[in-house]
Amino acid sequence: MEFIKNGKRIDKRLPNELRPIKFEVGALERADGSCYVEHGGNKVMAAVYGPRAVHPRHMQEANRAIIRYRYNMASFSVEERRRPGPDRRSIEISKVSREAIDPVIIKEFYPRSTIDVFVEILQADAGTRSAGINAASVALADAGVPMRGLIASCAVGKVDDTVVLDLVKEEDNFGQADMPVAMDVRTGEISLLQMDGHFTLEEFEEALQLGKEGCTTIAEMQREALVQKYQGEGHE
Ligand code: CDP
Repeated sequence: MEFIKNGKRIDKRLPNELRPIKFEVGALERADGSCYVEHGGNKVMAAVYGPRAVHPRHMQEANRAIIRYRYNMASFSVEERRRPGPDRRSIEISKVSREAIDPVIIKEFYPRSTIDVFVEILQADAGTRSAGINAASVALADAGVPMRGLIASCAVGKVDDTVVLDLVKEEDNFGQADMPVAMDVRTGEISLLQMDGHFTLEEFEEALQLGKEGCTTIAEMQREALVQKYQGEGHE
């Protein structure tokens, strides 16, 4: 498969270009915080509940809130119908996504509580864990959960021996490498980094740099979406 022609990718983007991204803050009425994200062909909803009491109680921590994160792919979100319910992949993604957002949440403010994050993938086109983390981060802020910053995430990879930002499904499935990254762009702290495939050391460094730039752009969009919703509020 040929991925790059005349310097352009299969969806006409440049190697260092993100797909179009749109954040809608507070899309759900019954959640404490929520965010709907469209990221290229991905459609993702994140809902946050809490801080609230922990059930079952034995899971509670005396000095801090616990964070629970459920990533779920709708059966209609992918080409080949997915069997509903958790599988190895979604359990793994839930775990790494929770760990990705965990460092910015000030858990000590809410002892014996839980903050529950639900991420539903309604339509998938590669990079769903990143789109989920981006949505979750904004939904947490929308819920008023105290945070040190926002976590932004995107994938970088390699196709036709070229390092590219934000893979589409064909690039993810049939390319040479796929590396999702999540970070707090204020501190530069990376809270998720996974890799499928192979990079040389130089390619890895180039990919990491490109990933950081992608996250910086996304973090600005997240901030912008929150400002849009909340500017003016609290002054009446
Ligand atoms: O979505 P993400 O890139 O975080 O995870 P992945 O495991 O690398 O999956 C890449 C893409 O493969 C997904 O975004 C879906 O578009 C597709 N996929 C699928 O079609 N059916 C599945 N059961 C799982 C993934």
